[in-house]
Amino acid sequence: MRAQRLVVALTVTFVMSIGWVLTAADARNEQKADDSPVAQNNNKAERSRIAQGFEIAPVPLDLAGRDRDLVGLGSYLVNAVGGCNDCHTNPSYTHQGNPFAGLPKQVNSAHYLAGGTPFGPFVSRNITDVTEEHSFEEFLQMMREGKDFDLRHPQISPLLQVMPWPVYQDMTDHDLRAIYEYLDAIPNATRCASVGPLSPTQTDPTCVP
Ligand code: HEC
Repeated sequence: MRAQRLVVALTVTFVMSIGWVLTAADARNEQKADDSPVAQNNNKAERSRIAQGFEIAPVPLDLAGRDRDLVGLGSYLVNAVGGCNDCHTNPSYTHQGNPFAGLPKQVNSAHYLAGGTPFGPFVSRNITDVTEEHSFEEFLQMMREGKDFDLRHPQISPLLQVMPWPVYQDMTDHDLRAIYEYLDAIPNATRCASVGPLSPTQTDPTCVP
């Protein structure tokens, strides 16, 4: 009995000391990475963006096998900075949550980033499946050079129009990678078949502008 108790006590002590050694090693590594006050501030700023990104994501995110921090940061950049929803979700907000009517904002999550907003002869694209169809390198070409891999309007221009890639081209690789990772984590969606007042054939209320 006594011997058994001793074995248990020794085991517990051993496991706890491993835990302590690992924690201490972690703390040392973190200290090394975050030595300067500037690095500490940057890290803090990025952490708060990541947390905010998760807070404001309007759709469930699939984090399995993905870099959690990049997804959170990507959400922040897409939803609080980049304004992608304004052009790539049609309509951008639900009927009951239209901020332009003075109502508390409610993103049209059923058709989130599925495209379909017309801009003259151009229509915003579905970007919920862009990471399935394009590598990160190709995505960089879209976001930096406006390369239109689908050549939707060769008679007008081989470049993406309306899309503010001349602005996004100045984002860092890290930030664009975060956006790519976030777009990979959101659910695929289809755009509203038609956007207009509810009719017998128009049964999806999120499609009413
Ligand atoms: C001012 C409106 C606008 C905003 C804001 C906007 N886009 Fe676009 N985007 C478009 C339009 C319109 C197209 C299609 C352009 C064309 O057909 O020439 C497009 C095309 C794209 C494409 C090409 C897709 C493909 O399959 O070839 C990607 C990728 C994209 N946008 C990503 C984004 C991301 C990410 C954001 C936010 C960081 C964003 N866009 C913000 C209007 C916009």
